This record gives sequence, C-alpha cells and structure tokens, in this order.
Amino acid sequence: MGGEKKDKEFSTRAIHVGTKHYEGSVNTPIFQSSTYKLTEETYAGWAAGAQHTLIYSRLSSVNSEAVAEKLASLENAEDGEVFASGMAAISTTLLGLLSNGDHVIASSDVYGGTYGLMTEDLPRFGIEVSMADMRDVNSYEAAIQSNTKMLYIETLTNPVLKVCDIEAFSKLAKIHNLILVVDNTFTTPWATNPIDMGADIVIHSTTKYLGGHSDIIGGAVLGNKDLIAKIFPKKIHFGGSADPHNCYMLERGIRTLDVRMGRHTENANELAKRLEKHEMIETVIHPSLPSHPDYDVAKRIMPKGTGMMAFIVKGGDSAALSFMRNLKIIFEATSLGGVESLIECPFNSSHMSIPENVRKEAGIVSGFVRLSVGIENVEDLWKDISQALEFN
Ligand SMILES: Cc1ncc(COP(=O)(O)O)c(C=O)c1O
Repeated sequence: MGGEKKDKEFSTRAIHVGTKHYEGSVNTPIFQSSTYKLTEETYAGWAAGAQHTLIYSRLSSVNSEAVAEKLASLENAEDGEVFASGMAAISTTLLGLLSNGDHVIASSDVYGGTYGLMTEDLPRFGIEVSMADMRDVNSYEAAIQSNTKMLYIETLTNPVLKVCDIEAFSKLAKIHNLILVVDNTFTTPWATNPIDMGADIVIHSTTKYLGGHSDIIGGAVLGNKDLIAKIFPKKIHFGGSADPHNCYMLERGIRTLDVRMGRHTENANELAKRLEKHEMIETVIHPSLPSHPDYDVAKRIMPKGTGMMAFIVKGGDSAALSFMRNLKIIFEATSLGGVESLIECPFNSSHMSIPENVRKEAGIVSGFVRLSVGIENVEDLWKDISQALEFN
C-alpha cells in the first residue's frame, strides 16, 4: 500500500488510486464474499500476519483494500485500514496502541463518542486520561506525565469549530516521543493533511464528508506502516471491520470529494458572510471569517476551509428552534458532511448529554445552531435561511 502519492494531484488520486479493475471494470466491483480461496500466496501472507491478504473479509476484502489504499494516498500515509464506523476506528486505535498503565491526553470538547470512550471505558482498562484544551498546546504540555504515550486532537472541534494547531502539537509530541493522533473528519484530506504536519495517525469518520451522501457509517485509520501493523490485529480481534458493500459506497463517495468539498466550502464562506450581517444573528463561527478567534491558525492548518459552520440566533434556544423548524430545504438532523445541508441545535441533540454549565463554558450558549452546509445552490440556501429567520 502507499506508493502512488504525490506524483498525481488530489482529484486524480481520489478517482484512480486503489481502484481494482476486474474483467475490465472501470470501478472496483462489490466482492460480496466472506471468504477467499486459500492459495500458496495467501497461506504465506497469513503466516506473515495477514495484513492486506485476501483470506476472510473481517481481515481484508477486495473492497476494503481498494478504499484503504485510496485513503492512504489522499492522507499521504504509508498504510491504512477501514472500519465499520468512526467509533470502531477510534476505539480500535486507542485500545490497540495503549495498554494498562499508559496515559493519553485529549480535550473535553472532542467528539462526544470519543469523550465517552475516554472517560468511561479507557479507565476500566487501566488507561489514564487527562483532559486539556485543544486550542492551547501548552495545556497539553502541562498535562504530560512520565507514563504519557499519546496526544489526541481533532483538526476542527465540534460544534464550536476551534482550529487545532497540528504543527505545534506535533513538535510537542516529537520532543516527548509521544504518538500524535488527529481526528481529521471535519476538514478531510482535501483541506488538511495532518501527516505532512508531523502527526502519526489520522482518523476519519468516513460517515461524513468522505462518504459524502449520508448513506453509510464508516471509519478509517491512516498512518505509518508500523503503527497500522499494530492496529490491524486489533481490528481482527474487536471485529469492527467494514463490509464490502460499505467499502464500495465509500470508494464511490471519495471519487467526488474534491468537487464536493470545493462547493461545500464556497457555500459556507458565502453564508457565513451574509449571516454575520443579519439582524437576527448574534455571532457567526466559521474559520473563513476574520472574526474567528483562530483565523490565522486556520489559514495555515486548513487553508481551503470547511463546510461546517455555527451561529447564535438572537432570542436563545427557543428562537433557534423556531428558526430551524421554519426551514424548508435545510434538513433538521444530526451528522454532517453530506451533499444536503443538515442543521441541529447541539443542546437537544449531539451535545444533550453534556451538563448545561459545561456546554456553556465550551461556548454552546443559548441559541447555538450547527449547520453542515451542503452543495445545493447557495441562493436557494440563503432564501431558505432568510425566510426561516422571519419567525417573529
Ligand atoms: C469528529 C468525529 N469523529 C468521530 C465520529 C464518530 O463517527 P461514527 O458516527 O462514524 O462512528 C464523529 C461522529 O459524529 C465525529 O463527528
């Protein structure tokens, strides 16, 4: 795996790298087979650890190999594995690389599922967890202990869209010989390549932009060969492997990532500018806006932007709910990164389990709305938002 990296541009790699042509097929066909014929070659691969060997589809399938190779190329990684969900990718990575007595540092505003895994499950296995602030690399440095093994960050946080200075974190990780894991779901390799900035492992919920059509649940882990070789046997043990059909859907989605991300971002940049001037809006949070606290970091870490944005509606949560329920095109649903625009109020959905005071401290104040801007016509989106804001 790996190999075909920077000799071709992003969109070419997104379309061509990894694709398996059988019987002259243009696309990788769906190999809906749980098991494969054992041959001299596969017996040898099995004896050598089984990675990238077609034996049994919990280990690898034609479709998982194809899409993992594509993703590794897009993230400039040596190797990769795909999973049945983003959480399967995250839990397998953490439990694969950390052991009883190790310590990991993360941030209290990591994705809720990751937060739950770190605070409820890792301690049950004797893995210590400290929470610091992803916006402040010094807070991570201050939390380092003699048993610290890993720093865990997200390129862009959910839902307050803090931009994490991956370069600063990778310097810190190198000084202390720690593994730096970056969840790059919100920006995708189209905007950010954490491995080029010194990260060791990149994780994705492929459910989001990479799949891109709100029709699959999936995950991926990309990194150097040695670390992925440690994670692969845990994928076999924990069993969160992606099935062939899921991998096919993901591969199909990734082929259009370049054009989709361009439109997601263009639309979000435009809506952010217009919303900032709207009398019913108190604050707009989008890294393209000079008013964003991490505007300069964003220009360096994710120069091409993102389709994720947030804003605070004047009048608090009830006003935000009225606005959201007046929308006719933008769909009220959790998740993000699909071609269609999705909207939610984190207080009664994705962040409901977080106590109100912790939510407020994190910036999720009354009236806070998260919008995953889709690739619809931007004028239609603006008309929808404008009419929905006339709820009084
Ligand atoms: C940043 C981030 N990481 C990981 C996940 C978990 O992914 P999945 O839902 O595919 O398990 C999510 C889900 O929303 C997410 O937003």
